[in-house]
Amino acid sequence: MNKKEQLKQLEEKMRGDAALPLPTNLVFGEGNINCEVMFIGEAPGEQEDIQKRPFVGRGGQLLNKMIEAIGWKREDVYITNIVKRRPPNNRDPLPEEIEVYKPYLTKQIEIINPKIIATLGRFSMNYFNPNLKISRDHGKVFRMNGRLLVPMYHPAAILRNMGLIGEYEKEFKKFPKILEKFDELLK
Ligand code: URA
Repeated sequence: MNKKEQLKQLEEKMRGDAALPLPTNLVFGEGNINCEVMFIGEAPGEQEDIQKRPFVGRGGQLLNKMIEAIGWKREDVYITNIVKRRPPNNRDPLPEEIEVYKPYLTKQIEIINPKIIATLGRFSMNYFNPNLKISRDHGKVFRMNGRLLVPMYHPAAILRNMGLIGEYEKEFKKFPKILEKFDELLK
């Protein structure tokens, strides 16, 4: 089975899994399945639930702008979340919700096999490495089982504090260099 078929099968399995919590729409993820960089956020919000696509609200628009600042397009990367359905009233995902979606995200990452996982926000960063702190570690590069982990602020956090936008953009613009030095950074 090719990657596309494997991902379709995974999505269908999720759709049929009654054990997965939250009664809202499934937002599986989208983008280039042969990407080098996979962006992973927290959970869908209201707009994402309506459109069944990740990062399509105000935060998503900022994310698109940052990807374009690199000289890339949104379609060049893959975008998803750790929790694939919207928690009520946009509350934080619960540890047990994160846990039940885990085997699916693990499989999704395995199929797509990106060089870099760029997490968006604290939840997603701590999902991969509980020892990191977003205020200290954003924009840094960490090795993680043959991939690189780059924790980024959540775009919603930047929208709440636009003073950080310049630094945010600079950190996005580092991705091509990180890819160029990938083998060296992985050593
Ligand atoms: N916030 C997230 O973490 N993910 C989305 O898809 C939208 C908003």
